[in-house]
Amino acid sequence: MKYIYKSRKFLFLCHTLVAALVISAAFALVAIAASPAQESQEYTVVAKTPVTLSKIAEKFFGKPDYWPAIMAATNRKYVEDPSFTRISDPESIEPEWKLWIPDKEWADGFMKVWTPIKPELLFGMGPKGQLVVASWWTAGGEAEGLNGLFHIYRSKYPEVEIVNATVAGGAGYIFKAVVKPRLIANDPPDTFQLHAGLEVEGYSPETYLGPLDDLYAIEGWKNVFPSDLLKLLEYKGHYWGVPVNIHRSNVLWYDRSIFARAGLLPPRTWDEFFEVCETLKAQGIVPIVMGDKGGWEAGHVFENILAGVLGAEKYKGLWTGATPWTDPLLTQALKVYKKMLTYVNTDHSAMSWDGAGEYMVADKGAMIIMGDWANGWFMAKNYTDYGWAPVPGTKGIFVALSDSFCFPKMARNRDNVIAWLRVCGSKEGQEAFNTKKGSIPSRIDCDPNLFNEYLQSAMRDWKTDAIVPSCIHGAATIESWVTDFKDVINLFTATGNVSAAQAALKEACVTAEVCK
Ligand code: GAL
Repeated sequence: MKYIYKSRKFLFLCHTLVAALVISAAFALVAIAASPAQESQEYTVVAKTPVTLSKIAEKFFGKPDYWPAIMAATNRKYVEDPSFTRISDPESIEPEWKLWIPDKEWADGFMKVWTPIKPELLFGMGPKGQLVVASWWTAGGEAEGLNGLFHIYRSKYPEVEIVNATVAGGAGYIFKAVVKPRLIANDPPDTFQLHAGLEVEGYSPETYLGPLDDLYAIEGWKNVFPSDLLKLLEYKGHYWGVPVNIHRSNVLWYDRSIFARAGLLPPRTWDEFFEVCETLKAQGIVPIVMGDKGGWEAGHVFENILAGVLGAEKYKGLWTGATPWTDPLLTQALKVYKKMLTYVNTDHSAMSWDGAGEYMVADKGAMIIMGDWANGWFMAKNYTDYGWAPVPGTKGIFVALSDSFCFPKMARNRDNVIAWLRVCGSKEGQEAFNTKKGSIPSRIDCDPNLFNEYLQSAMRDWKTDAIVPSCIHGAATIESWVTDFKDVINLFTATGNVSAAQAALKEACVTAEVCK
């Protein structure tokens, strides 16, 4: 056994099992006053101090068997900062070595998932090779946000080559069709964008994705992601993605100068909305712009009208079967949408959401209903003349969605993915990403001062508003229902047949086996 330890070419499994036994037996008798490590800290081993990790664990945690937590934390630190020691043998700790003592919460979290049969948990491998990151983030703001994450990843793991595998098309309408066959063919990208919520069902996660519960425990994410979001992220008892943000779907963006010139205030009700539209139309300005070329944007606008007309509870009930799709308020929502279409740009079906945004930048269009990635896009365009308000009727409601990254079981560069997911969930990563992306961080401990005025207001609203899930962006329901919903609204956009659309919406709920 000695030879095995000295040579350091031991089998991890033998090593960890034997080390655990030897160490706990040897030091159970050593009484050292414990000073629990509440904060993480650097610790330099000095001569004559304990020379095994379990003694150090006892010193900081009062528990010798917490040595794996110190070993894992130090080895992870080493990956980022080689001045720390890479520990391979918990029994041979040399003077002058720099160790990283994790805080108690991290150590407790780690010890919950630590098992000698997963020795790889002890090592923060220095990733090498490639990391293929797949997303649909190509528009202004989206691309910049993603680059913010890449920048942090590269600074930590300079030897990894990031492959930015984007498939353009808002809300992932092309992307999803590309990723699924790759998963099924066991040829997935290393990690890919996934909305929090029932969207994951469409990827058969139990077959194709790795659950991330251990990583959540080790990183302490359950303490920093809000409970509403954690609920959304959990599917069949597991976490399948690491969220990078929270987006708001129900924002009415407006051009401040146009509104000021016309003496208008952002409308709070649908009646006010149509009055505003009339005034703007009379002045030769496109009152509300839309670009529904991607097939999802009309549904996006409509889901927010639904929330505005039905209110939070009834809107939520649509996706659980509690609110019938025959409700007269639904008829009203369809009529509001139909009337709105009489005020939109006539070329709406030929452009994407950001294409429609150009009307506002050019001072030719006054309003757009779009998620707050529009905020990121405006920033990327250096367009600052915009104001925001909840979509009429939705004050106090936050129609929410979140982007996460997942871990395909057949990912080729596994260590690199874990390192990526850690960056995604980190405070540093979320601050870099969201300040550009236009979304609020999914962590509650990010610094609000880093974010623009709109985002600070969204952070406040998130805390006080009723949170309801977006359908179009994967939170409320399964992908097949989202597709049916989009199809109905696209047809309705073309035909304007209210009763046919309502019947088809009801039918979609039946097909999804939520309504009878
Ligand atoms: C959403 C996604 C956002 C944004 C938007 C437009 O589905 O969650 O991050 O990218 O699509 O592409």
